[in-house]
Amino acid sequence: MATQWVLVVVAVMAVLFAGGAAGGQLSTRYYDGKCPNVQSIVRAGMAQAVAAEPRMGASILRMFFHDCFVNGCDASILLDDTANFTGEKNAGPNANSVRGYEVIDAIKTQVEASCNATVSCADILALAARDAVNLLGGPTWTMQLGRRDALTASQSAANGNLPGPGSDLATLVTMFGNKGLSPRDMTALSGAHTLGQARCATFRSRIFGDGNVDAAFAALRQQACPQSGGDSTLAPIDVQTPDAFDNAYYANLVKKQGLFHSDQELFNGGSQDALVRKYAGNAGMFAADFAKAMVRMGALLPAAGTPTEVRLNCRKVN
Ligand code: HEM
Repeated sequence: MATQWVLVVVAVMAVLFAGGAAGGQLSTRYYDGKCPNVQSIVRAGMAQAVAAEPRMGASILRMFFHDCFVNGCDASILLDDTANFTGEKNAGPNANSVRGYEVIDAIKTQVEASCNATVSCADILALAARDAVNLLGGPTWTMQLGRRDALTASQSAANGNLPGPGSDLATLVTMFGNKGLSPRDMTALSGAHTLGQARCATFRSRIFGDGNVDAAFAALRQQACPQSGGDSTLAPIDVQTPDAFDNAYYANLVKKQGLFHSDQELFNGGSQDALVRKYAGNAGMFAADFAKAMVRMGALLPAAGTPTEVRLNCRKVN
């Protein structure tokens, strides 16, 4: 009996240690001695980009999500395709919609000028996404740092790991669960759809014949997104305040005005309805949960033993 307990304790410790080791590679003070100005350089670069075009904040936030969900937050999404290498940029969820690569390049150039070969592209993207949220009126948080850059990227993993706009609730819960993120994390992170734009092709089926859509909202969106043609025409995801990071996204869901089928699945008589109502009525609770979930998503790392580096140019391996 005693031996069994020892085995259980050892097993639990092993699980805790494994979890701790993965997160333990990151530290909030990672660049304190190595590149003390990195946070102000990234903030200034993002402030400039968002001032020039507020949507860029949305685009960089989405880029971070699409990086972290594919083999961890390792800047794999930033690698360009070459004649003999196919990366993630042209995977289905990314092609013709993920944007802002040149913003990360410009920030990386500034960071390299200050601290050569020190700060990973993955950390620059993590800080840029955090600052994007705050610059558009959302919360800020202390970001753990020390991520490293991948030597490769996976188009098939990008196609397989990122949810699509037609996903149902069970699929969303499973796909986030596969990354160690809870349904609550998933519902909070989806609040990122308070920002940005989407192409007609991603929401057409929702505004034509989706049972759970507000009729006036569907009619409004149909004006720019007809039954055929106009696939690339953009519409704001949050019908109320597309350039402000607020909790209007959840109020939209309660009114059946979510733009994607996947958005409305969070408020469709299922397990997330109560939380959606809470976030709709409590901006502070949403902001706090969003920040916590971003830290958890940002702690997704490549599998132990994966070769990594600090890239000099975010678009290619050294
Ligand atoms: C829950 C599952 C999710 C699905 C199914 C989903 C799907 C989509 C789709 C289809 C678009 C429009 C892309 C296009 O126009 O082709 C989009 C845009 C966007 N997504 Fe998501 N997304 C999800 C979660 C997230 C998360 C977790 C974040 C960030 C934390 C995020 C941030 C964004 C942002 C900010 C945009 C607008 C980007 C821009 O304007 O450039 N999404 N999403």
